[in-house]
Amino acid sequence: MPLVTTKEMFRKAYDGGYAVGAFNVNNMEIIQGITEAAKELNAPLILQVSSGARKYANHTYLVKLVEAALVETDLPIALHLDHGDTFELCKSCIDGGFTSVMIDGSHHSYEDNVKLTKQVVEYAHARGVVVEAELGRLAGIEDAVNVSAEDASYTDPEQVVDFVGRTGCDSLAIAIGTSHGAYKFKPGQKPQLRFDILAEIEKRLPNFPIVLHGASSVIPEYVAMINQYGGNMPDAIGIPEEMLRQAARSAVCKINIDSDLRLAMTGTIRKYFSENPSHFDPRQYLGPARAAIKGMVAHKIKNVLGCDGKA
Ligand code: G3H
Ligand code: 13P
Ligand code: ZN
Repeated sequence: MPLVTTKEMFRKAYDGGYAVGAFNVNNMEIIQGITEAAKELNAPLILQVSSGARKYANHTYLVKLVEAALVETDLPIALHLDHGDTFELCKSCIDGGFTSVMIDGSHHSYEDNVKLTKQVVEYAHARGVVVEAELGRLAGIEDAVNVSAEDASYTDPEQVVDFVGRTGCDSLAIAIGTSHGAYKFKPGQKPQLRFDILAEIEKRLPNFPIVLHGASSVIPEYVAMINQYGGNMPDAIGIPEEMLRQAARSAVCKINIDSDLRLAMTGTIRKYFSENPSHFDPRQYLGPARAAIKGMVAHKIKNVLGCDGKA
């Protein structure tokens, strides 16, 4: 099966009350772990590439690895640019075979966000590619995304109809309290999401797919594993799985997960080296890391996203 866009995936997810997982990919083992889990569970999949991933692994390598996953799985897979920040970056991914791009204009003024998003939408739609946009601003720190808690802001439901109407975007990432990275809430703070804002947005944009970024649960088992085997992560708190399950039943059709992949991989490799300090064959530690990713993604598909059997 060739790469697909997210159009049909999102329509089915919206109607079926589940969400599709969008997992960040950076290398072969990550792609294999994710796609092997999806294949076993017959789940649709979004594989997403950040500008940092593209710099690290090279556009062509990532596209070819994802093409290999298509051959191996025969699943509906969308290849998506995560957090595109310029028209040129989106254009390069559209021209280079991606079926979906995100233009993240959330750091611009409202009018500039509309203008930039519209420009990307016009270019993408003319080539059969779909566009995710962002309104509101998430907190958190990643390679290319760095927003302090003070600069973060919830999505204003009053703006969504105007924004979607004027830009023509195909899905909308919103800010309701999720954030990027492993430190989403302060120690002692009770995790909370603004489901009231989500409900307002859903009311104003019926049948329109909503996206949640920063949706890792920061699985405690892997944080504990990192710290047990020589790491020193401070209290890391993510989004509780039952909240993600609740979001997946609503208009949220795409849930972004990266940090949980990083934690699963790093925890497993740390454990491996602690138990096998003399080993130096990369296959010996990357194999278990890939298996951990597969197990973690299978858990998300079955117990959080609800997209098993929906391919
Ligand atoms: O939200 C961003 C993703 O987790 C990608 O992170 O820019 O460090 O590759 P990155
Ligand atoms: P996490 O850091 O919560 O995994 O979020 C990933 C993300 O939103 C990628 O765009
Ligand atoms: Zn994100």
